[in-house]
Amino acid sequence: MTYIADSGRYNDRMRYRRTGESGLLLPEISLGLWQNFGDDRPLDVQRAILRTAFDAGVTHFDLANNYGPPYGSAEKNFGSIFAQDFKPYRDELIISSKAGFDMWDGPYGNWGSRKYLTASLDQSLARMGLEYVDIFYHHREDPDTPIEETASALASAVQQGKALYVGVSNYSPTRTEQMIAALAPYNIHLLIHQPSYNMLNRHPEDGLFDVLKANGVGSIAYVPLAQGLLTDRYLDGSIPGGSRAARDGSLKSTQVDATYLAKARALNDLATNRGMTLAQLALAWILRRDEITSALIGASSVGQLQQNLATITFPLLFTDELETIEKVLGG
Ligand SMILES: NC(=O)c1ccc[n+]([C@@H]2O[C@H](COP(=O)([O-])OP(=O)(O)OC[C@H]3O[C@@H](n4cnc5c(N)ncnc54)[C@H](OP(=O)(O)O)[C@@H]3O)[C@@H](O)[C@H]2O)c1
Repeated sequence: MTYIADSGRYNDRMRYRRTGESGLLLPEISLGLWQNFGDDRPLDVQRAILRTAFDAGVTHFDLANNYGPPYGSAEKNFGSIFAQDFKPYRDELIISSKAGFDMWDGPYGNWGSRKYLTASLDQSLARMGLEYVDIFYHHREDPDTPIEETASALASAVQQGKALYVGVSNYSPTRTEQMIAALAPYNIHLLIHQPSYNMLNRHPEDGLFDVLKANGVGSIAYVPLAQGLLTDRYLDGSIPGGSRAARDGSLKSTQVDATYLAKARALNDLATNRGMTLAQLALAWILRRDEITSALIGASSVGQLQQNLATITFPLLFTDELETIEKVLGG
């Protein structure tokens, strides 16, 4: 059936934040297509998740060249859903892609060379059926390629109209500063950094947020739910069939151990006391920081997505609640 976006999608269902000191606003909750959008997942579920997100004011979908499985399939599947459902809404969407991890065989399908980034972006655009991406990221630091070369490839993407903005992901504070400086001769401002950040992994607090704030760079926190650990998925101590931990890939079933369970259950009690789920508490906790532009979630079902998006309807966390959370996380 032809998709017509919900006419109420911008009626207070979502809040938007400015990305650093740029002109671009992003939704407080964005949707990532790392897992759940490969050829191993039914296209109708993917489509329902994307439609539900957009109807709720989620204007940002995040991809990368190698999301799948197999590599490239998330972009290809997104491209086919985009062609059917979202083409009329292109100017309402922020679509990102990335290159930096292994993508194709040989010396030119990985890391940070001009050769790799340029070819990969062309491939991503072809798979998604897009003329441009809104944000093109270098996906990780490359210790062996001069940062000036990687920056020149990102700048060319902008100059050629293939990307509107550029970002980096998984960069250290120092390397981020170097990229900001390397883009400056092109008059290109680094828009955004995409670090992993959640209650169980707080590394951006050790210097990265300071660098981003000082330089007017936004940040979008990936794996905000720790791949499902910060939801009720594993709270009873078992690993449900079909869950990410059951697949034992990026999330290991051994991570559901006694230390984790004690912490997650204590956090869940705090969430319940406020009438929230653990997932909603985890997202509200991320959004407490003004360095954060958006929390970049994943969802394997419409129900998960709806629960996560409802975070927006709760009041912000109060100081005493944040202190209690600190005690649980520190213990
Ligand atoms: N830049 C990078 O290097 C990088 C790396 C990783 C991810 N990312 C980005 O971040 C995005 C999000 O990553 P992620 O999917 O790991 O994020 P996440 O939000 O931490 O985890 C999402 C997973 O948690 C489970 N889940 C979500 N909501 C739930 C709920 N309400 N109740 C129960 N379970 C729930 C689902 O797993 P089940 O399968 O168990 O249902 C879902 O697929 C990616 O799509 C990608 O765009 C970027």
